[in-house]
Amino acid sequence: MVGYDNKARAESVLAAAEASGEHYGNGLPMIASENIISPMVRKATNSDLHGRYAEGLPGKRYYQGCDDFDDIESLGISLAKSVFNANFANIQSTSGTVSNIAALKALTKPGDKISAVSTADGGHISHARMGAVGLRGLDLHTYPWDEDRMEPDVDAACSMIRDLEPQLALVGQSVFLFPTPLQEMADAAHEVGARVMYDGAHVLGLIAGGQFQDPLREGADVMTGSSHKTFPGPQGGFLISDSDDEKFHRRLNSAIFPGTNSSYHLHHVAGKVVALAEFAEFGVDYARDIVVNAKAFGGAMAAEGFDVLAEGRGYTASHQILTRHGGQDSGAGAKAAKLLEDAGIITNMNMLPGDTKAMAPSGLRLGVQELTRVGMGVEEMKIVANLYARVLLKHEEPSEVKKDVSLLKEKHQTVHYCFEPGPAYP
Ligand SMILES: Cc1ncc(COP(=O)(O)O)c(C=O)c1O
Repeated sequence: MVGYDNKARAESVLAAAEASGEHYGNGLPMIASENIISPMVRKATNSDLHGRYAEGLPGKRYYQGCDDFDDIESLGISLAKSVFNANFANIQSTSGTVSNIAALKALTKPGDKISAVSTADGGHISHARMGAVGLRGLDLHTYPWDEDRMEPDVDAACSMIRDLEPQLALVGQSVFLFPTPLQEMADAAHEVGARVMYDGAHVLGLIAGGQFQDPLREGADVMTGSSHKTFPGPQGGFLISDSDDEKFHRRLNSAIFPGTNSSYHLHHVAGKVVALAEFAEFGVDYARDIVVNAKAFGGAMAAEGFDVLAEGRGYTASHQILTRHGGQDSGAGAKAAKLLEDAGIITNMNMLPGDTKAMAPSGLRLGVQELTRVGMGVEEMKIVANLYARVLLKHEEPSEVKKDVSLLKEKHQTVHYCFEPGPAYP
């Protein structure tokens, strides 16, 4: 465009990207859906594959020039089957949401009934009418919720499934503290002829590391997920199943391509495959350390005087904890998140049971998967909890606390649980 310095605009993008790296590198990133990639994954995602196309499956392509990528994707499929202990894996999806759209396409027809966790109880927007469920034209019914246990009320949810007779029972959520009572719900769903879909976006790394639940053995016909949350790869998704029915495999593959993707970001797939290889080597240790840290962080926050949800269940069995900072719909979560950001602690506000306003919730959802990946352990969890208390309970000036946040983070600049540990925030 004439009249603008477009080179300066382009440079400003690079400068902002660098500033973002510094911001996260000096701070404490605790958004439960994020992670950092390893140096080897970074090399793969920055490779020539960025510009390439490979529609179809390895060996059956619409484009020439795919032989090298075929080797990568074939290795990735076999690694994903072994990491997730599954008979089928499609690693092409460009995000968890795209995996969900594809699974809904494969498993339902417009007008079908679906049961899922409501967004107010922690379900993801793709499980809602405003998201993928609405896009597929499904008739949504949400499970009764047990606020003390922070999971579907298992007896009421099973009765609901038996009465409703949905075509698909979807479980899993974004606020995911404890394993879903899946076996019981899957039994009820299968009794009425429904398929079961488990959205493991958040907890995929914990599942693959054997630290959460085993959805494919507990009755899920399909598991979807993101490749960049507790599974520490580049942004993308997975579609996994333990079915040995090849017709079903074809249905799942064609829901990804041509159903919902054309180009599927080959550089990210290559990064995913490196991440799968690293996970096969280090994933069990990483998943175990995340859960140990999350439990320790929940305990440390409670000891500092915070209201941490699910105290009776040990606060969490995943990478997340939930804290309450004021009354229902008070917006206290939003205010806390802002003060913490001023102190260099990056979190997100979250609705808690009873809240009805998404933009004025009373809580925070906090994840420890990234702090764990840069080498923090139980002792650091106590220090981090104390930093929260200084900002939110002792009302210290956030800019003062920020100095101690950076001092702590200075010692944690290396990505661990990977083949070539290196800079976390290059
Ligand atoms: C339960 C759940 N499903 C799906 C997604 C979407 O994943 P993505 O952001 O990779 O599209 C999320 C995102 O946080 C999620 O929490």
